[in-house]
Amino acid sequence: MEITCTLNGVQRTGYAESRTLLSDFLRHELGATGTHVGCEHGVCGACTVRINGAAGRSCLTLAVQVDGAAVDTVEGLAEDGQLNDLQLAFKRHHALQCGFCTAGILMSCSDFLTRVSSPTEQQVRDMLSGHLCRCTGYTPIVQAVLDVAAVRASNAKNNIQGDI
Ligand code: FES
Ligand code: FES
Repeated sequence: MEITCTLNGVQRTGYAESRTLLSDFLRHELGATGTHVGCEHGVCGACTVRINGAAGRSCLTLAVQVDGAAVDTVEGLAEDGQLNDLQLAFKRHHALQCGFCTAGILMSCSDFLTRVSSPTEQQVRDMLSGHLCRCTGYTPIVQAVLDVAAVRASNAKNNIQGDI
């Protein structure tokens, strides 16, 4: 079947069987190998992407389901070749080690921060409960997300005051 979606802002067309997983379609048909595959049954979160803005498991989604949809993967986070604020915070807080889980966690975090602008630590931990990370102990990831939320809130406040 022919499938057309908007991948990281660019319209892409590829071919997949009706049973092909979105994770395989992204990696093998569209070349978006930043999306990792771990458990392939919805547990680890490594394959998380954003579909029409919402974080979702690409190993539990069929490729045909994204025909006409917007799909964002970790490759789309950087802006003009520069790591975005979330990626920089992960680097600053040493929130990744082997990095296998990181692409999926970043996509969940990016969705989360658009919905929850001033999260509590518990809210961040609840969000992260959908991801398995064997390396970091999660605390640096939590700190990175809270750091980004605080900086974005401060910037938003300054922008409002600048408009007054
Ligand atoms: S590979 Fe999709 S949740 Fe583990
Ligand atoms: S950084 Fe290695 S699994 Fe998370």
